Amino acid sequence: MNKHYDVVIIGGGIIGMSIAYHLAKAGKKALLLEANEVGKQTTSAAAGMLGAHAEGEGDEDIFFQVGRRSQALYKKLKVDLQHESGIDIRASAGGIMKVAFTEHEKRALCRMQHLPTFEWLEASSVKKRIPQITDDIIGAGLIEDDVHVEPYAVCRALWQAAVRYGADVKEFTPVIEVKTGKEALTVRTAGGTFTCDHLTVASGVWSGRFFEEMGFSHSLYPVKGECVSVWNNGPALAHTIYHDHCYIVQRDRGKLIIGATMKPNDWQAIPTLGGIETVIKKASQLMPSIQEMPIDQCWAGLRPATSDRHPYIGRHPEDERILFAAGHYRNGILLAPITGEIIRDLIVGEPVNEEWLHAFRIGRKEALFV
Ligand code: FAD
Ligand code: GLY
Repeated sequence: MNKHYDVVIIGGGIIGMSIAYHLAKAGKKALLLEANEVGKQTTSAAAGMLGAHAEGEGDEDIFFQVGRRSQALYKKLKVDLQHESGIDIRASAGGIMKVAFTEHEKRALCRMQHLPTFEWLEASSVKKRIPQITDDIIGAGLIEDDVHVEPYAVCRALWQAAVRYGADVKEFTPVIEVKTGKEALTVRTAGGTFTCDHLTVASGVWSGRFFEEMGFSHSLYPVKGECVSVWNNGPALAHTIYHDHCYIVQRDRGKLIIGATMKPNDWQAIPTLGGIETVIKKASQLMPSIQEMPIDQCWAGLRPATSDRHPYIGRHPEDERILFAAGHYRNGILLAPITGEIIRDLIVGEPVNEEWLHAFRIGRKEALFV
């Protein structure tokens, strides 16, 4: 007989693992199926910035509301996960210093000036806080709430805690087929077949095939990002430096994470010399001293993008047993806690913000074309 679960989750990145954690904690018997190793795909490529302000278009955007909510959830999650898993997710203080080189960039940044969480600093004040920064900037917006975490540590902590609450996690178990019969949902894998009451597709940029198999158009596509890390033997960076998709993030043990390129429709998660050269050039304009720093490693990851830049989070419109959580693009680390909560609430029957569900609904026309 096939083993039966309340919920099967396809994909063991930070999104799938957050869903498994939230459901297991709510008492659901969950099984997470991961094709390779947990957290080793796009999740491990991320810098870990919780960039609700820095990554958005302003505070009227729905992304800002959801991102701010998820940032707030991280505060409790950090403490809970420390107790439940013994793992420190390495949340750092300091936030993001989003720099401006021109008056035009300053004006764009200062659209956030009415927010209590945003502070405009002239170049001399920036320099006091980050002596390593280039002299070429005219100032920067300091957003102290846009802290960062260590993405793989978050994923591993969610994993340990989910298992503690009774979830099963199977690595090296790719899902081959899903059958949506009337009686029960059946999930066939390389390591056996399972049945479940609910199924959640959370396989990042690889989720597209499940949308198609279940009859949906979608606009999921990869945007490759390449990064390099270096050893910073000098003073630690007090804030992440951010400008035009380029960032320098201080990790503990003296590492700086420098990212990232944006290469649409490139499915090869391997860094190229040209990509790394671009990243180093941009970062050197922000902080010239990185030129002298020893290289640690280079890597690449595939951001799961959609054409309207919003994720797909919600139910299959015709089959309530099936849910989707994919397409988190540049912000899957930020949005992992809120995504876990939304999917949990949909499954256990708790209310969910209707505006968010509408913006992220499956099959929406706004997100059909690349
Ligand atoms: P993934 O981590 O890719 O997980 C999906 C999993 O599904 C994979 O492990 C895969 O093996 C599995 N899978 C696929 N097919 C199957 C199958 N058939 N059966 C079973 N399992 C399957 N976000 C932020 O919030 N802050 C950042 O600072 C940040 N920086 C980034 C920097 C870079 C360079 C990149 C590339 C991304 C960055 N992101 C950041 C984005 C973030 O990494 C992603 O949005 C997030 O990792 C997506 O998580 P996921 O769980 O959906 O996907
Ligand atoms: N959020 C940073 C990145 O996607 O590169």
